[in-house]
Amino acid sequence: MDYLRIIGNQRLKGEVAISGAKNAALPLIAATILAKNEVKISNLPAVQDIKTLLKLLENLGASHSFRDNTATIDTSSLASTIATYDIVRTMRASILVLGPLLARFGHCEVSLPGGCAIGQRPIDLHLKALEQMGATISIKSGYVIAEAPQGLHGARIIFDKVTVTGTENILMAAALAKGETTIINAAKEPEVIQLCEELQKAGVEIEGIGQNEIRIVGTDREPLQFLDIHVIPDRIEAGTYLCAGAITQSSITLQNVNPHHLEAVLVKFQQMGYGLDTDETSITIHPASTITPISITTSEYPGFPTDMQAQFMALSLLAEGTSIIEERLFENRFMHVSELRRFGADIKLKGNIATIIGPTKLYGADVMATDLRASSALVLAGLAAQGQTNVHRIYHLDRGYEAIEKKLGALGAKIFRLRE
Ligand code: UD1
Repeated sequence: MDYLRIIGNQRLKGEVAISGAKNAALPLIAATILAKNEVKISNLPAVQDIKTLLKLLENLGASHSFRDNTATIDTSSLASTIATYDIVRTMRASILVLGPLLARFGHCEVSLPGGCAIGQRPIDLHLKALEQMGATISIKSGYVIAEAPQGLHGARIIFDKVTVTGTENILMAAALAKGETTIINAAKEPEVIQLCEELQKAGVEIEGIGQNEIRIVGTDREPLQFLDIHVIPDRIEAGTYLCAGAITQSSITLQNVNPHHLEAVLVKFQQMGYGLDTDETSITIHPASTITPISITTSEYPGFPTDMQAQFMALSLLAEGTSIIEERLFENRFMHVSELRRFGADIKLKGNIATIIGPTKLYGADVMATDLRASSALVLAGLAAQGQTNVHRIYHLDRGYEAIEKKLGALGAKIFRLRE
Protein backbone atom coordinates (compact mmCIF):
# COMPACT_ATOMS: atom_id res chain seq x y z
CA MET A 1 0.00 0.00 0.00
CA ASP A 2 1.28 3.50 -0.82
CA TYR A 3 1.83 6.18 1.76
CA LEU A 4 3.02 9.78 1.63
CA ARG A 5 6.07 11.03 3.46
CA ILE A 6 6.19 14.78 4.06
CA ILE A 7 9.10 16.75 5.46
CA GLY A 8 7.21 19.74 6.79
CA ASN A 9 7.75 23.39 7.55
CA GLN A 10 8.76 24.37 3.99
CA ARG A 11 7.54 27.49 2.20
CA LEU A 12 5.76 26.89 -1.10
CA LYS A 13 5.91 29.05 -4.20
CA GLY A 14 4.80 29.09 -7.80
CA GLU A 15 1.72 27.98 -9.70
CA VAL A 16 -0.48 24.91 -9.70
CA ALA A 17 -3.02 23.91 -12.36
CA ILE A 18 -6.33 22.76 -10.94
CA SER A 19 -7.88 19.62 -12.46
CA GLY A 20 -11.44 19.10 -13.61
CA ALA A 21 -14.02 18.52 -10.88
CA LYS A 22 -14.44 14.87 -9.89
CA ASN A 23 -17.96 15.53 -8.61
CA ALA A 24 -18.98 17.19 -11.88
CA ALA A 25 -17.36 14.48 -13.98
CA LEU A 26 -19.08 11.56 -12.23
CA PRO A 27 -22.69 12.52 -13.12
CA LEU A 28 -21.58 13.55 -16.61
CA ILE A 29 -20.08 10.09 -17.18
CA ALA A 30 -23.26 8.49 -15.82
CA ALA A 31 -25.31 10.70 -18.17
CA THR A 32 -23.63 9.09 -21.20
CA ILE A 33 -25.96 6.14 -20.51
CA LEU A 34 -28.67 8.43 -21.95
CA ALA A 35 -26.70 9.17 -25.14
CA LYS A 36 -27.24 7.98 -28.67
CA ASN A 37 -23.77 9.20 -29.73
CA GLU A 38 -20.23 8.58 -28.57
CA VAL A 39 -19.56 11.32 -25.99
CA LYS A 40 -16.23 13.10 -25.58
CA ILE A 41 -15.49 14.48 -22.10
CA SER A 42 -12.32 16.53 -21.59
CA ASN A 43 -10.69 17.99 -18.46
CA LEU A 44 -11.49 14.77 -16.61
CA PRO A 45 -9.33 14.34 -13.53
CA ALA A 46 -7.19 11.17 -13.65
CA VAL A 47 -8.33 9.98 -10.22
CA GLN A 48 -9.51 6.62 -8.98
CA ASP A 49 -13.23 7.51 -8.71
CA ILE A 50 -13.36 8.37 -12.42
CA LYS A 51 -11.62 5.12 -13.33
CA THR A 52 -14.06 3.24 -11.10
CA LEU A 53 -17.12 4.69 -12.83
CA LEU A 54 -15.63 4.04 -16.28
CA LYS A 55 -14.99 0.46 -15.16
CA LEU A 56 -18.60 0.17 -14.00
CA LEU A 57 -19.83 1.30 -17.44
CA GLU A 58 -17.44 -1.17 -19.07
CA ASN A 59 -18.90 -3.97 -16.93
CA LEU A 60 -22.35 -2.97 -18.19
CA GLY A 61 -21.10 -3.37 -21.76
CA ALA A 62 -20.08 0.18 -22.73
CA SER A 63 -16.72 0.94 -24.35
CA HIS A 64 -14.40 3.87 -23.68
CA SER A 65 -10.92 5.26 -24.07
CA PHE A 66 -9.36 7.50 -21.41
CA ARG A 67 -6.08 9.29 -21.98
CA ASP A 68 -4.67 12.80 -21.46
CA ASN A 69 -7.64 13.67 -19.23
CA THR A 70 -10.09 13.03 -22.06
CA ALA A 71 -12.52 10.14 -22.34
CA THR A 72 -14.70 9.06 -25.22
CA ILE A 73 -17.56 6.89 -24.06
CA ASP A 74 -19.87 4.80 -26.21
CA THR A 75 -22.81 3.29 -24.36
CA SER A 76 -24.64 2.06 -27.49
CA SER A 77 -23.53 -1.52 -26.79
CA LEU A 78 -24.56 -1.35 -23.14
CA ALA A 79 -26.41 -4.59 -22.41
CA SER A 80 -26.37 -5.30 -18.68
CA THR A 81 -28.30 -3.22 -16.17
CA ILE A 82 -26.70 -4.64 -13.02
CA ALA A 83 -24.21 -2.51 -11.05
CA THR A 84 -22.51 -5.06 -8.85
CA TYR A 85 -21.43 -4.88 -5.22
CA ASP A 86 -17.69 -5.18 -5.93
CA ILE A 87 -17.71 -1.77 -7.68
CA VAL A 88 -20.41 0.09 -5.77
CA ARG A 89 -18.79 -0.70 -2.42
CA THR A 90 -15.62 1.11 -3.50
CA MET A 91 -17.50 4.27 -4.53
CA ARG A 92 -20.90 5.41 -3.28
CA ALA A 93 -21.33 7.75 -6.25
CA SER A 94 -21.92 4.61 -8.38
CA ILE A 95 -25.54 5.18 -7.36
CA LEU A 96 -25.53 7.82 -10.14
CA VAL A 97 -26.17 5.08 -12.69
CA LEU A 98 -29.54 4.26 -11.09
CA GLY A 99 -31.55 7.11 -12.67
CA PRO A 100 -30.14 6.86 -16.20
CA LEU A 101 -30.22 3.03 -16.38
CA LEU A 102 -33.82 2.94 -15.23
CA ALA A 103 -34.83 5.74 -17.61
CA ARG A 104 -33.22 4.06 -20.62
CA PHE A 105 -33.99 0.38 -20.00
CA GLY A 106 -36.98 0.40 -17.63
CA HIS A 107 -35.10 -1.96 -15.35
CA CYS A 108 -31.92 -1.99 -13.29
CA GLU A 109 -30.29 -3.49 -10.24
CA VAL A 110 -27.77 -1.43 -8.32
CA SER A 111 -25.98 -2.67 -5.25
CA LEU A 112 -27.10 -0.69 -2.21
CA PRO A 113 -24.25 1.58 -1.10
CA GLY A 114 -23.57 0.99 2.58
CA GLY A 115 -22.79 3.61 5.20
CA CYS A 116 -19.33 5.12 4.98
CA ALA A 117 -16.72 6.73 7.18
CA ILE A 118 -18.53 10.08 7.32
CA GLY A 119 -22.06 8.84 8.09
CA GLN A 120 -24.95 6.62 7.11
CA ARG A 121 -25.66 8.39 3.84
CA PRO A 122 -29.03 6.86 2.93
CA ILE A 123 -30.43 6.99 -0.61
CA ASP A 124 -34.09 7.02 0.43
CA LEU A 125 -34.73 10.36 -1.27
CA HIS A 126 -33.43 9.06 -4.64
CA LEU A 127 -35.69 6.01 -4.35
CA LYS A 128 -38.82 7.89 -3.25
CA ALA A 129 -38.47 10.29 -6.14
CA LEU A 130 -38.08 7.48 -8.68
CA GLU A 131 -41.18 5.81 -7.23
CA GLN A 132 -43.08 9.04 -7.78
CA MET A 133 -41.94 8.83 -11.39
CA GLY A 134 -43.59 5.42 -11.75
CA ALA A 135 -40.82 3.03 -10.69
CA THR A 136 -41.44 -0.01 -8.52
CA ILE A 137 -38.54 -0.41 -6.15
CA SER A 138 -37.58 -3.28 -3.88
CA ILE A 139 -34.45 -4.14 -1.96
CA LYS A 140 -33.33 -7.76 -2.36
CA SER A 141 -30.06 -9.38 -1.30
CA GLY A 142 -28.41 -5.99 -0.90
CA TYR A 143 -29.53 -4.68 -4.29
CA VAL A 144 -31.93 -1.92 -5.24
CA ILE A 145 -34.16 -3.49 -7.88
CA ALA A 146 -35.98 -0.88 -9.90
CA GLU A 147 -38.60 -1.58 -12.54
CA ALA A 148 -40.51 0.73 -14.85
CA PRO A 149 -41.43 -1.44 -17.84
CA GLN A 150 -43.57 1.29 -19.40
CA GLY A 151 -40.86 3.92 -18.80
CA LEU A 152 -40.78 6.70 -16.22
CA HIS A 153 -43.24 9.60 -16.22
CA GLY A 154 -42.81 13.16 -15.02
CA ALA A 155 -43.67 14.03 -11.42
CA ARG A 156 -43.59 16.86 -8.93
CA ILE A 157 -40.78 15.99 -6.53
CA ILE A 158 -40.17 17.80 -3.29
CA PHE A 159 -36.90 16.75 -1.71
CA ASP A 160 -37.05 16.75 2.13
CA LYS A 161 -33.33 17.60 2.16
CA VAL A 162 -31.12 19.14 -0.46
CA THR A 163 -29.26 16.21 -2.01
CA VAL A 164 -26.58 16.60 -4.67
CA THR A 165 -26.48 13.11 -6.20
CA GLY A 166 -30.22 12.77 -5.53
CA THR A 167 -30.94 15.85 -7.65
CA GLU A 168 -28.53 14.56 -10.33
CA ASN A 169 -30.13 11.11 -10.44
CA ILE A 170 -33.59 12.61 -10.87
CA LEU A 171 -32.39 15.10 -13.51
CA MET A 172 -31.04 12.20 -15.58
CA ALA A 173 -34.15 10.08 -15.03
CA ALA A 174 -36.42 13.01 -15.90
CA ALA A 175 -34.48 13.71 -19.11
CA LEU A 176 -35.79 10.50 -20.68
CA ALA A 177 -39.12 10.32 -18.84
CA LYS A 178 -42.49 11.02 -20.44
CA GLY A 179 -43.72 14.52 -19.63
CA GLU A 180 -42.70 17.18 -17.17
CA THR A 181 -40.81 16.75 -13.89
CA THR A 182 -40.41 19.50 -11.31
CA ILE A 183 -37.71 19.16 -8.66
CA ILE A 184 -38.36 21.36 -5.65
CA ASN A 185 -35.59 21.99 -3.09
CA ALA A 186 -33.04 21.05 -5.77
CA ALA A 187 -29.28 21.20 -5.13
CA LYS A 188 -27.59 24.29 -6.63
CA GLU A 189 -23.96 23.09 -6.65
CA PRO A 190 -21.94 24.12 -9.75
CA GLU A 191 -21.60 20.39 -10.52
CA VAL A 192 -25.41 20.06 -10.67
CA ILE A 193 -25.58 23.16 -12.86
CA GLN A 194 -23.10 21.69 -15.33
CA LEU A 195 -25.14 18.49 -15.59
CA CYS A 196 -28.28 20.58 -16.31
CA GLU A 197 -26.45 22.61 -18.94
CA GLU A 198 -25.06 19.56 -20.74
CA LEU A 199 -28.48 17.87 -20.73
CA GLN A 200 -29.96 21.10 -22.07
CA LYS A 201 -27.35 21.27 -24.86
CA ALA A 202 -28.25 17.66 -25.64
CA GLY A 203 -31.80 18.79 -26.39
CA VAL A 204 -33.62 18.41 -23.05
CA GLU A 205 -35.89 21.32 -22.12
CA ILE A 206 -34.79 22.53 -18.67
CA GLU A 207 -35.79 25.67 -16.77
CA GLY A 208 -34.66 26.97 -13.39
CA ILE A 209 -31.03 25.84 -13.62
CA GLY A 210 -29.20 26.82 -10.42
CA GLN A 211 -32.47 27.60 -8.64
CA ASN A 212 -34.56 25.91 -5.95
CA GLU A 213 -37.04 24.64 -8.47
CA ILE A 214 -35.97 22.93 -11.71
CA ARG A 215 -38.42 21.96 -14.45
CA ILE A 216 -37.46 19.26 -16.95
CA VAL A 217 -39.42 18.08 -19.98
CA GLY A 218 -38.44 14.51 -20.79
CA THR A 219 -37.93 13.00 -24.26
CA ASP A 220 -40.08 9.90 -23.62
CA ARG A 221 -37.10 7.55 -23.98
CA GLU A 222 -35.66 9.21 -27.08
CA PRO A 223 -31.87 9.04 -26.44
CA LEU A 224 -29.85 12.26 -26.34
CA GLN A 225 -27.26 13.70 -28.72
CA PHE A 226 -24.58 15.15 -26.44
CA LEU A 227 -22.08 17.81 -27.52
CA ASP A 228 -18.42 17.58 -26.45
CA ILE A 229 -18.15 18.28 -22.72
CA HIS A 230 -15.37 20.14 -20.87
CA VAL A 231 -15.57 19.49 -17.11
CA ILE A 232 -15.60 22.56 -14.83
CA PRO A 233 -12.61 23.14 -12.47
CA ASP A 234 -12.56 21.29 -9.16
CA ARG A 235 -13.48 23.85 -6.49
CA ILE A 236 -12.58 21.45 -3.67
CA GLU A 237 -9.14 20.65 -5.07
CA ALA A 238 -8.67 24.41 -5.55
CA GLY A 239 -9.71 25.14 -1.95
CA THR A 240 -7.33 22.45 -0.71
CA TYR A 241 -4.34 24.01 -2.56
CA LEU A 242 -5.28 27.44 -1.21
CA CYS A 243 -5.14 25.85 2.26
CA ALA A 244 -1.68 24.47 1.38
CA GLY A 245 -0.51 28.01 0.60
CA ALA A 246 -2.21 29.37 3.72
CA ILE A 247 -0.96 26.76 6.19
CA THR A 248 2.65 27.26 5.04
CA GLN A 249 2.31 31.07 4.97
CA SER A 250 3.27 31.09 1.27
CA SER A 251 2.22 32.97 -1.84
CA ILE A 252 0.99 30.53 -4.50
CA THR A 253 -1.19 30.89 -7.58
CA LEU A 254 -3.90 28.52 -8.78
CA GLN A 255 -4.58 28.36 -12.52
CA ASN A 256 -7.63 26.86 -14.33
CA VAL A 257 -9.95 27.73 -11.48
CA ASN A 258 -13.34 29.42 -11.24
CA PRO A 259 -13.26 31.85 -8.26
CA HIS A 260 -17.05 32.34 -8.45
CA HIS A 261 -17.52 28.72 -7.32
CA LEU A 262 -15.33 29.37 -4.26
CA GLU A 263 -16.93 32.50 -2.83
CA ALA A 264 -17.83 31.06 0.59
CA VAL A 265 -14.33 29.61 0.93
CA LEU A 266 -12.51 32.76 -0.19
CA VAL A 267 -14.43 34.83 2.37
CA LYS A 268 -13.10 32.54 5.12
CA PHE A 269 -9.49 33.00 3.98
CA GLN A 270 -10.03 36.76 4.06
CA GLN A 271 -11.58 36.62 7.53
CA MET A 272 -8.51 34.69 8.68
CA GLY A 273 -6.27 37.49 7.41
CA TYR A 274 -4.94 36.03 4.16
CA GLY A 275 -4.57 38.18 1.05
CA LEU A 276 -6.22 37.11 -2.19
CA ASP A 277 -5.91 38.25 -5.80
CA THR A 278 -8.38 36.79 -8.24
CA ASP A 279 -9.20 37.08 -11.91
CA GLU A 280 -11.56 35.03 -14.05
CA THR A 281 -9.41 31.85 -14.03
CA SER A 282 -6.76 32.26 -11.34
CA ILE A 283 -6.43 32.89 -7.61
CA THR A 284 -3.29 33.92 -5.71
CA ILE A 285 -3.15 33.59 -1.94
CA HIS A 286 -0.73 35.63 0.22
CA PRO A 287 0.39 35.05 3.83
CA ALA A 288 -1.52 36.55 6.79
CA SER A 289 0.31 38.86 9.19
CA THR A 290 -1.78 37.34 12.01
CA ILE A 291 -3.89 34.22 11.43
CA THR A 292 -7.29 35.07 12.92
CA PRO A 293 -9.51 32.28 14.35
CA ILE A 294 -12.52 31.33 12.31
CA SER A 295 -16.14 30.29 12.74
CA ILE A 296 -17.51 27.92 10.09
CA THR A 297 -20.84 26.18 9.59
CA THR A 298 -21.06 23.79 6.67
CA SER A 299 -24.09 23.94 4.42
CA GLU A 300 -25.31 23.33 0.91
CA TYR A 301 -23.98 25.49 -1.94
CA PRO A 302 -23.60 28.47 -2.00
CA GLY A 303 -22.73 28.02 1.70
CA PHE A 304 -19.44 26.70 3.02
CA PRO A 305 -18.84 23.18 1.62
CA THR A 306 -18.60 20.20 3.95
CA ASP A 307 -15.88 18.92 1.59
CA MET A 308 -13.62 21.81 2.78
CA GLN A 309 -14.32 21.40 6.50
CA ALA A 310 -11.41 19.09 7.37
CA GLN A 311 -8.88 21.24 5.50
CA PHE A 312 -10.00 24.40 7.35
CA MET A 313 -9.77 22.54 10.63
CA ALA A 314 -6.09 21.82 9.85
CA LEU A 315 -5.60 25.50 8.99
CA SER A 316 -7.33 26.75 12.12
CA LEU A 317 -4.74 24.90 14.25
CA LEU A 318 -2.39 27.79 13.45
CA ALA A 319 -4.87 30.57 14.25
CA GLU A 320 -4.20 32.88 17.21
CA GLY A 321 -7.17 31.82 19.35
CA THR A 322 -10.25 29.61 19.36
CA SER A 323 -12.01 28.55 16.17
CA ILE A 324 -15.41 26.86 15.96
CA ILE A 325 -16.43 24.47 13.19
CA GLU A 326 -19.95 23.11 12.98
CA GLU A 327 -20.68 20.20 10.62
CA ARG A 328 -24.30 20.32 9.50
CA LEU A 329 -24.41 17.78 6.64
CA PHE A 330 -22.84 14.55 7.81
CA GLU A 331 -23.16 13.11 11.30
CA ASN A 332 -19.70 11.55 11.54
CA ARG A 333 -17.43 13.84 9.59
CA PHE A 334 -14.83 14.46 12.31
CA MET A 335 -12.69 11.35 11.81
CA HIS A 336 -9.69 13.60 11.15
CA VAL A 337 -9.85 15.07 14.66
CA SER A 338 -8.14 12.15 16.38
CA GLU A 339 -5.46 12.09 13.67
CA LEU A 340 -4.89 15.86 13.89
CA ARG A 341 -4.36 15.40 17.63
CA ARG A 342 -1.35 13.24 16.75
CA PHE A 343 0.31 16.40 15.40
CA GLY A 344 -0.38 18.08 18.76
CA ALA A 345 -3.75 19.67 17.95
CA ASP A 346 -5.95 20.83 20.83
CA ILE A 347 -9.50 20.11 19.59
CA LYS A 348 -12.63 19.58 21.67
CA LEU A 349 -15.56 17.75 20.13
CA LYS A 350 -19.15 18.03 21.26
CA GLY A 351 -21.72 16.50 18.94
CA ASN A 352 -21.30 18.13 15.56
CA ILE A 353 -19.27 21.09 16.84
CA ALA A 354 -15.48 21.16 17.03
CA THR A 355 -13.65 23.79 19.06
CA ILE A 356 -10.06 24.25 17.97
CA ILE A 357 -7.71 26.02 20.34
CA GLY A 358 -4.77 27.63 18.58
CA PRO A 359 -2.09 28.40 17.88
CA THR A 360 -0.51 24.95 18.00
CA LYS A 361 3.08 24.07 17.32
CA LEU A 362 2.66 21.03 15.07
CA TYR A 363 5.09 18.13 15.05
CA GLY A 364 5.21 15.50 12.28
CA ALA A 365 3.56 12.16 13.03
CA ASP A 366 2.39 8.86 11.55
CA VAL A 367 -1.27 9.29 10.70
CA MET A 368 -3.97 7.36 8.94
CA ALA A 369 -6.29 8.65 6.22
CA THR A 370 -9.95 7.77 6.88
CA ASP A 371 -11.83 9.39 4.02
CA LEU A 372 -11.07 11.53 1.03
CA ARG A 373 -11.15 15.05 2.47
CA ALA A 374 -9.94 14.01 5.93
CA SER A 375 -6.83 12.70 4.17
CA SER A 376 -6.08 16.04 2.59
CA ALA A 377 -6.32 17.71 6.03
CA LEU A 378 -3.57 15.37 7.23
CA VAL A 379 -1.37 16.26 4.27
CA LEU A 380 -1.92 19.95 5.06
CA ALA A 381 -0.99 19.47 8.73
CA GLY A 382 2.10 17.55 7.57
CA LEU A 383 3.14 20.48 5.34
CA ALA A 384 3.04 22.85 8.33
CA ALA A 385 4.52 20.49 10.94
CA GLN A 386 8.07 20.40 12.16
CA GLY A 387 9.78 17.18 11.03
CA GLN A 388 8.53 14.10 9.23
CA THR A 389 4.94 12.98 8.67
CA ASN A 390 3.79 9.71 7.11
CA VAL A 391 0.19 9.65 5.86
CA HIS A 392 -0.95 6.05 5.53
CA ARG A 393 -3.88 4.58 3.55
CA ILE A 394 -3.71 7.24 0.88
CA TYR A 395 -5.94 5.26 -1.45
CA HIS A 396 -8.62 7.58 -0.04
CA LEU A 397 -6.64 10.56 -1.32
CA ASP A 398 -6.11 8.95 -4.72
CA ARG A 399 -9.88 8.72 -5.16
CA GLY A 400 -10.11 12.48 -5.62
CA TYR A 401 -6.77 14.29 -5.93
CA GLU A 402 -4.86 13.97 -9.18
CA ALA A 403 -1.08 13.59 -8.69
CA ILE A 404 -1.14 15.38 -5.35
CA GLU A 405 2.51 14.67 -4.54
CA LYS A 406 3.60 15.92 -7.97
CA LYS A 407 1.55 19.12 -7.74
CA LEU A 408 2.71 19.90 -4.18
CA GLY A 409 6.26 18.85 -5.06
CA ALA A 410 6.29 21.33 -7.97
CA LEU A 411 5.30 24.05 -5.47
CA GLY A 412 8.39 23.18 -3.38
CA ALA A 413 6.90 20.80 -0.81
CA LYS A 414 9.05 17.88 0.25
CA ILE A 415 6.54 15.11 -0.33
CA PHE A 416 7.20 11.59 -1.54
CA ARG A 417 5.04 8.58 -2.40
CA LEU A 418 6.47 5.44 -0.82
CA ARG A 419 5.40 1.81 -0.42
CA GLU A 420 4.67 0.29 3.02
C1 UD1 B 1 -22.29 14.87 -2.64
C2 UD1 B 1 -20.82 14.91 -2.96
C3 UD1 B 1 -19.99 14.92 -1.68
C4 UD1 B 1 -20.44 16.07 -0.76
C5 UD1 B 1 -21.96 16.03 -0.56
C6 UD1 B 1 -22.48 17.24 0.19
C7 UD1 B 1 -20.69 13.77 -5.09
C8 UD1 B 1 -20.28 12.56 -5.84
N1 UD1 B 1 -20.50 13.77 -3.78
O1 UD1 B 1 -22.55 13.66 -1.94
O2 UD1 B 1 -18.62 15.10 -2.03
O3 UD1 B 1 -19.80 15.93 0.48
O4 UD1 B 1 -22.64 16.00 -1.83
O5 UD1 B 1 -22.14 18.41 -0.47
O6 UD1 B 1 -21.12 14.74 -5.66
N2 UD1 B 1 -29.47 12.32 2.38
C9 UD1 B 1 -30.54 11.57 2.85
N3 UD1 B 1 -31.20 10.76 1.96
C10 UD1 B 1 -30.84 10.68 0.64
C11 UD1 B 1 -29.77 11.46 0.18
C12 UD1 B 1 -29.11 12.29 1.07
O7 UD1 B 1 -30.88 11.61 4.03
O8 UD1 B 1 -31.49 9.93 -0.11
C13 UD1 B 1 -28.74 13.22 3.32
C14 UD1 B 1 -27.29 12.80 3.53
O9 UD1 B 1 -27.14 11.76 4.49
C15 UD1 B 1 -26.66 14.11 3.95
C16 UD1 B 1 -27.43 15.15 3.13
O10 UD1 B 1 -28.65 14.51 2.76
O11 UD1 B 1 -26.88 14.33 5.30
C17 UD1 B 1 -26.73 15.64 1.89
O12 UD1 B 1 -26.21 14.55 1.18
P1 UD1 B 1 -26.06 14.54 -0.42
O13 UD1 B 1 -26.12 15.93 -0.95
O14 UD1 B 1 -27.01 13.55 -0.99
O15 UD1 B 1 -24.57 13.99 -0.59
P2 UD1 B 1 -24.04 13.13 -1.79
O16 UD1 B 1 -24.82 13.48 -3.01
O17 UD1 B 1 -23.94 11.69 -1.39
